[in-house]
Amino acid sequence: MFPPPFTLASLCKFCDLQSSTCDGTGTCKSNCSITSICDHPEQVCVSIWRRNDNNHTLETLCHDPDVPLYGVRLDDSNSSTCVMKEKKAEGGMLSICSCNQEECNDNIIFTQLPGPTVESPVAAVILVSLLPLLVLAVLVVAMFYWYRVYRRRQSEWETRKPSKRKVLDCSDACAIMMDDDRSDSSSTHANSLNHNTEPLPIELDLLVGKGRFAEVYKAKLKQSPSEQFETVAVKIFPEEEYASWKNEKDIFSDIDLKHENILHFLTAEERKVEKQYWLITAFHPRGNLQDYLTRHVVSWEDLRVLGGSLAQGVAHLHSDHSSCGRPKVPIVHRDLKSSNILVKSDLTCCLCDFGLGLRLDNSLSVDDLANSGQVGTARYMAPEVLESRINLENIESFKQADIYSMALVLWEITSRCNAIGEVKEYEPPFGSKVREHPCVESMKDNVLRDRGRPEIPESWIKHQGVSIVCATINECWDHDPEARLTAHCVAERFDEMEDELDKLSSRSSSEEKIPEDLSVNEGK
Ligand code: ADE
Repeated sequence: MFPPPFTLASLCKFCDLQSSTCDGTGTCKSNCSITSICDHPEQVCVSIWRRNDNNHTLETLCHDPDVPLYGVRLDDSNSSTCVMKEKKAEGGMLSICSCNQEECNDNIIFTQLPGPTVESPVAAVILVSLLPLLVLAVLVVAMFYWYRVYRRRQSEWETRKPSKRKVLDCSDACAIMMDDDRSDSSSTHANSLNHNTEPLPIELDLLVGKGRFAEVYKAKLKQSPSEQFETVAVKIFPEEEYASWKNEKDIFSDIDLKHENILHFLTAEERKVEKQYWLITAFHPRGNLQDYLTRHVVSWEDLRVLGGSLAQGVAHLHSDHSSCGRPKVPIVHRDLKSSNILVKSDLTCCLCDFGLGLRLDNSLSVDDLANSGQVGTARYMAPEVLESRINLENIESFKQADIYSMALVLWEITSRCNAIGEVKEYEPPFGSKVREHPCVESMKDNVLRDRGRPEIPESWIKHQGVSIVCATINECWDHDPEARLTAHCVAERFDEMEDELDKLSSRSSSEEKIPEDLSVNEGK
């Protein structure tokens, strides 16, 4: 048997605790002048560096690696050099190294950057729990940045890409959104037919109106590469109603028709696959005037705004010049009624449904006019239209028939105004006298034979403003077409009433009767 191998005790720096100039980075000297022979051969050299509030210390000593030092195990005792490791010890964080070569703890090496001065477990917990948030924030910022770069590339690509698809230009797109803001931007592209082969990317949403010739849908116009869209209205004509679509499209295509009180037209399309004809226009969520009056009682101020804007729209339609003085073809609507008028978000009106509209250009002969026949909705037909005795020699007579219909609409608005006193449920003109869809003969009995008009009770004209409106209505539904006011004159009267407004006392606001929703408009 051999005796156990003899091991020499280590020679180590041994100064216990002393202040140190070492800042915990790179390589430092211990600056310990005492070299000691360790008491036991199994002991190794150890250096401990600490960061305190206002200084650093270094402790050099011999220690048995089998025994934890300040609660720390010396796991690098076989090392020939003293490489510092940051450890959590009994008195807090420290940097410690051990090695087994002569005076190896004189040269201490820091490879890690000095760690955060986390003195308490609470701080460590906070730090650790914040880490995922930090990672998440970095990820979000990176994704956002990536998305912006992607969007920019996409839109650059879209603008360069040659396409057959018609993309509505800004003035069109803005008009969809800004029509309600009374945008004045005029565009030579506004009223155009989509001649392109590819139809616009439109997704139909909801049926909002059903008429004699067509159905109207709320729809999404998806033009941008992202999920964004514009809300538009799409009027869909079946194949058989081509003539009505063509007439309305031709009327809308007149650039001079553009006006804040006339529905903003975007484009027309032939949808060959579906065998349909489409008209794409601005969408007005408040729907048509008839539905609006059914659900709401209006204030005097509302009556003035609704009535004035209605007259402005009809005046522009009838006018032979645009607002900037350019010559314009006068147009007559021939089917004015509250369900063919839309209420915009600022409570102004805009005219729609030009399916029976007629352009009164100089080329029209008396025969052309005579052939255009008795058209419209019987309830709203002027007496001369009911008896087919319209003066074809004078184009003004068509405008005068529109004025009669407009008077009935003004009466409808007034009947729902709280300035008249007691406000009854909405009733269309002649509501109690005729059935839901009266025929021409029944209207003749009322309007021609009996010279009947909707009732204007005495109580209505107690209000100064309403009495002016009622006098105007009376002049507009005169039996004699020539005695009727022009739309321009009616619009001026409403303008003048604006100045009168201050003098008028009752200025209560609209009373919401039923929460607004969009129901299908029937009974055109
Ligand atoms: N009903 C008929 N046309 C409409 C439109 N453009 N906006 C809203 N409702 C409508």
